[in-house]
Amino acid sequence: MNICVVGCGYVGLTTATALSHLGHDVTGLDIDSKKIESLNNGICIIHEDGLESMLQRQIECGTLNFSTSIDEYMQKSEVIIIAVGTPSNETGQTDLKYIERVIERIASTKPDHQVQPIVIKSTVPPGTNEYVQNRLIQSGRDSESFSVISNPEFLREGSALYDLLHPDKIVVGGTDPIDLELIRKMYACLPSQYFFTTPITAEIIKYASNAFLATKISFINEIQRICEAYRGDVSIVAEAIGCDPRIGPHFLNAGLGYGGYCLPKDIQSLSHSAIEKGVVPSLLHAVERVNNSQVDNYIDMLEKNIGNLKDRKISIWGLAFKPNTDDTRDSPSYRLIDKLYEKGAVLTAYDPAATNTSKHTAFSKNQYESVKGSDVLIIATDWKDFIDADWKKVKEQMCGATILDARNCLNPSALRSAGLKYLALGRH
Ligand code: UGA
Repeated sequence: MNICVVGCGYVGLTTATALSHLGHDVTGLDIDSKKIESLNNGICIIHEDGLESMLQRQIECGTLNFSTSIDEYMQKSEVIIIAVGTPSNETGQTDLKYIERVIERIASTKPDHQVQPIVIKSTVPPGTNEYVQNRLIQSGRDSESFSVISNPEFLREGSALYDLLHPDKIVVGGTDPIDLELIRKMYACLPSQYFFTTPITAEIIKYASNAFLATKISFINEIQRICEAYRGDVSIVAEAIGCDPRIGPHFLNAGLGYGGYCLPKDIQSLSHSAIEKGVVPSLLHAVERVNNSQVDNYIDMLEKNIGNLKDRKISIWGLAFKPNTDDTRDSPSYRLIDKLYEKGAVLTAYDPAATNTSKHTAFSKNQYESVKGSDVLIIATDWKDFIDADWKKVKEQMCGATILDARNCLNPSALRSAGLKYLALGRH
């Protein structure tokens, strides 16, 4: 198939590259000419496992290219995939301005193909696919000349390529069984469970999935607080309850809370959609409340243990919102940095992949130098490099000896045997 993917962010770039790998002729489109130039030179603009080598291979094969000529490729492609960002506004509502811009351009192009499917991969509130359909008809496009298909993505940053090629499900929201056939063909019949449903249901599946993951995290963070109060161990609680197949072991790691571009905004957007129809999203609100107070809990614990934070030298390992990515959008690490800064602490951060965008902390390029002279080291992201750190070396560099494990990822006895003091919430 001849496919164009509009938007070369995490989702669009991974999708374009993987679809070319699956045998299609793909063009990734974006308005950012610098990004397009880098991509055409085989430089992957994001930190994503395996993506750069696949991107280079596909460009060499001649089945993947990138362009800013959006109208030209939208006109000649058999299928248009929309993968532009859907940020939220101040009230948490999804801002569809980028989707709007793409629709305007689609409306003004005359496709070479008789019927041109438009696949919406961007995460959009319930009702958006229908809205896009109506907007295109209103703008003069013949309703027989296109179809709008919802095909939400379930890719985790850091393992997006793997997830795309090994899907646990493929969701297709459409109105005609032909839509399902098209999506099957697009994924080269990847073995997976296919759910063919209405566009609205497909849109809700996407939000429900992220909302459930966030709920699991806030649930275990609340249990963590109870464990802390009673001196129980939340890691053992999570491991034990996770053995029950009805609960499952994933997303039960207590810590600083969830961040990133997806979970926080999707919870807000779903709450917004619920309220718009008169449904009170009590649980979603509670999930957010728990998440938003996690950083404060860690600050309280630190103050209880080392006293006033003013002028204390604190190192932070981890800026990315989770390991194996350089993405710092809505990272709990930055929430922590801002609060520590407000308290007057003197900060140095280190991350293996992410760059520092905060004015409130210095940045060190070396993991061990970053802790030189520190009173406290906080683990804010559970990178493997931190889990496997040389704790004797850390101890030699630090001035104090306190390690706050804000991701419950370290082995307390390894730290203690290196002469360090292990601190964590709900874990002792
Ligand atoms: C999330 C979903 O997991 C994907 O399925 C979805 O496709 C994607 O959003 C999206 O909508 O595009 P991602 O944003 O990459 O993927 O991040 P997650 O792996 O879900 O992690 C989110 C946050 O939860 C991170 O800050 C992580 O540290 C935190 N987390 C995760 C915990 O605090 N505890 C856990 O047990 C697991």
